Amino acid sequence: MIQPDQLMQQNQVEVMTEDADRTETRRGFAQAVVSTLVTLIGGAIAASSGTYLLGRTKELNRNSWADAGEVSGLRQGVPQEIVFDKVLVDGWETKSEKTSAWVILGADGRVAAFSPQCTHLGCPYHWEAERKQFVCPCHGSCFDAKGSVIAGPALRPLDRYEMKMEGSRLWLGPVQVQRKS
Ligand code: FES
Repeated sequence: MIQPDQLMQQNQVEVMTEDADRTETRRGFAQAVVSTLVTLIGGAIAASSGTYLLGRTKELNRNSWADAGEVSGLRQGVPQEIVFDKVLVDGWETKSEKTSAWVILGADGRVAAFSPQCTHLGCPYHWEAERKQFVCPCHGSCFDAKGSVIAGPALRPLDRYEMKMEGSRLWLGPVQVQRKS
């Protein structure tokens, strides 16, 4: 038979065990709340930083124009390859890279600037004065002075730079991909 003393001791032990359980449950809950908050705050910071960086990169790329030089010496219908420095933005890094364009003064008095890569697989092409054609040595694609395809395998006309004139200086922007002829 259980004595009153023993019964009291047993009750005290049960009360202490329940208190310990409650304390343990509260600690676990607090840890879960803190961990969730840290995850949410970290996610929010990462998302806003990513959005800022991507947006900034896009903005800088979109706004990057390069001074391609004087074009007052262009002769009508005679393309000229010009080399210029283009500013490239890659994340935090900004670098300058040499690139080129084929620039031509058309019969209408307007200047056009073509990207130097063939629209088939990206080989550099050249102007053949006798044929009055841009010719790609890789697979034989040919384009006329307006950049239109004369012979494949290229299916698209030459891509053009966005361009603007400042006096007689030509400024080139991003390359605009041309659709199939
Ligand atoms: S890359 Fe120019 S024809 Fe193929």
